[in-house]
Amino acid sequence: MATRTILTDNDPVLHKVCKPVETFDKRLWQLLDDMADTLKKANGVGLAAPQVGVLRRVFIMDTGDGLKECINPTILERRGVQECTEGCLSSPGEYGIIHRPAVVKLQAQNRHGKFFIVTLEELAAQCADHENDHLDGILFKSKVDRMLSPDEYI
Ligand code: NI
Repeated sequence: MATRTILTDNDPVLHKVCKPVETFDKRLWQLLDDMADTLKKANGVGLAAPQVGVLRRVFIMDTGDGLKECINPTILERRGVQECTEGCLSSPGEYGIIHRPAVVKLQAQNRHGKFFIVTLEELAAQCADHENDHLDGILFKSKVDRMLSPDEYI
């Protein structure tokens, strides 16, 4: 079990564009394993590599049907729209109302470099879109319709 520190949204690292992963080696697997431990400990549904200070195009998510590791992801298609209440592990205690695609068709590579395509809906589509944004230095707070006040979500 090795967790890493999650950066908060005032950290300039979170506002940078990440580079693609080129080498699918033990160092990447260690990052993925550490990210999984970090996500679990934080009780989150998704975590992107820049949130632990690594500027590479990697995110993981688990919206209830097992852990997905997405390396060099590309969103091939976004369909429909859903209104979501959203937060981010890098913005603890802050939530907002945001519109996300209802369906996301995502291509990515697994930890061995093999390409796969998945179609995600509801929370999984929201999460993939949110995590993919992190890889381009985009935080949910820059896209929200409005932030919620504490009495709206407690
Ligand atoms: Ni986030």
